[in-house]
Amino acid sequence: MDHFQYLDRVLHCEEVPLAELAEKYGTPLFVYSQATLLHHLKQIQSAFAEADPIVCYSVKTNGNIHIARLMAEHGSGFDVTSGGELFRALKAGGDPKKIVFAGVGKTDVEMRYAFETGILFFDVESEQELHRLGEVAKSIGTVARAALRVNPDLPPKTHIKTDTSVKGVKFGLDIDTILEVAQGVVGHPNLQVVGLHMHLGSPILSAEPYRQGAEKGAILIAALRKQGHPIQYLNMGGGFGIHYRKQEALPAQAFAEVILPVVRETKCRLVLEPGRFIVGNAGLLLSRVIFTKESGGKHYIIQDAAMNDLIRPTLYDSFHRIWPVAPSAGLPAPPLDYETAIPHTFPQNVVGPVCESGDFLAKDRNLPTMKRGDLLATFSAGAYGMAMSSNYNARCRAAEVLVTGRTHRLIRRRETYDDLVRAEVDCNS
Ligand code: LLP
Repeated sequence: MDHFQYLDRVLHCEEVPLAELAEKYGTPLFVYSQATLLHHLKQIQSAFAEADPIVCYSVKTNGNIHIARLMAEHGSGFDVTSGGELFRALKAGGDPKKIVFAGVGKTDVEMRYAFETGILFFDVESEQELHRLGEVAKSIGTVARAALRVNPDLPPKTHIKTDTSVKGVKFGLDIDTILEVAQGVVGHPNLQVVGLHMHLGSPILSAEPYRQGAEKGAILIAALRKQGHPIQYLNMGGGFGIHYRKQEALPAQAFAEVILPVVRETKCRLVLEPGRFIVGNAGLLLSRVIFTKESGGKHYIIQDAAMNDLIRPTLYDSFHRIWPVAPSAGLPAPPLDYETAIPHTFPQNVVGPVCESGDFLAKDRNLPTMKRGDLLATFSAGAYGMAMSSNYNARCRAAEVLVTGRTHRLIRRRETYDDLVRAEVDCNS
């Protein structure tokens, strides 16, 4: 469910026509719907309400302070994966007691920063990290609270580049040796193992991996407790899929049904780290057609958003629905199923101005004839869009706008040429 809809053949975000936003803020532009963001956060909070979970919005998905602040204001904590993300979470008003810190390569500086702020716990991903965490805790006279991140060794479930729970990936502790590692820190004066963590991959369109992961988790929690570790938290990570191509995603309820039984059994406090589920369908990328051309029998729509704005198609061959903001008479609203024929369309490549053949938002996509100046919407761009954007080809990063009802506000201004060189020392000499 989202609040992007066609009213009288014109795409609106909540009650605001997108053409009005393009006019005021320019393109390319990320547009977010506040109602959609909050709706999805609420869906997770309600589906898991029985467990009173600590929902930790995953900052890496979309770290804009204004979006993070909305999350905090509506009860969310944060999952962070770097000192920078911790800084963002705190700046957004995040409660440190609801912040968890994952990542395979935390530095001493990042650990100290997290200790100073008093986060809930560290998600620890290797034996060396666990011992180093104990040493850093000792050096500042404190006790580290750790959740061991397990790689539960599940079958492939999503794109190879984002599957984090198949054997051999860099994430987490191997399920076969995690108990040995845990045994090695029983009674450690500066370490308390208080939880078990797993993040299975992203995006996941089935509840089955969560059922399998949680069941393996329950066995591990019992064993860790037997070793003497006071396990209070089960952190099931994020990864809940969203609608990209059609209505393929599961409701939050489906994940709750397989996770909650294990929460009841272990009596752990549940932690969740959703990102994409909350912000993915709450944002789109608005762009304007610059030129169209044909080459070798292929049709190209060259518009002003590129791989530096949304790298997911280039990186993962991801599918994002794309449709004109003001489709002409006879055209439907964006089709619900792109695998069937769509009248008045023909296969076209939607590309940007970046100097790479891999710069595309869609390949051989059935779209109507577009002309210079037309606006296009690339949907489901709220997650890992702006967050993974870059200045490649010295392109200024896009602006971001947050819409609520009839009102809209800039939450990140468009970058300028001066911004491009600002961090380069002595750039004006
Ligand atoms: N927790 C941990 C430890 C994670 O590594 C991630 C995502 C999340 C939570 C949030 O997952 P989500 O609920 O958003 O699925 N750039 C890729 C996705 C990479 C995900 C990285 N980790 C993409 O655009 O599909």
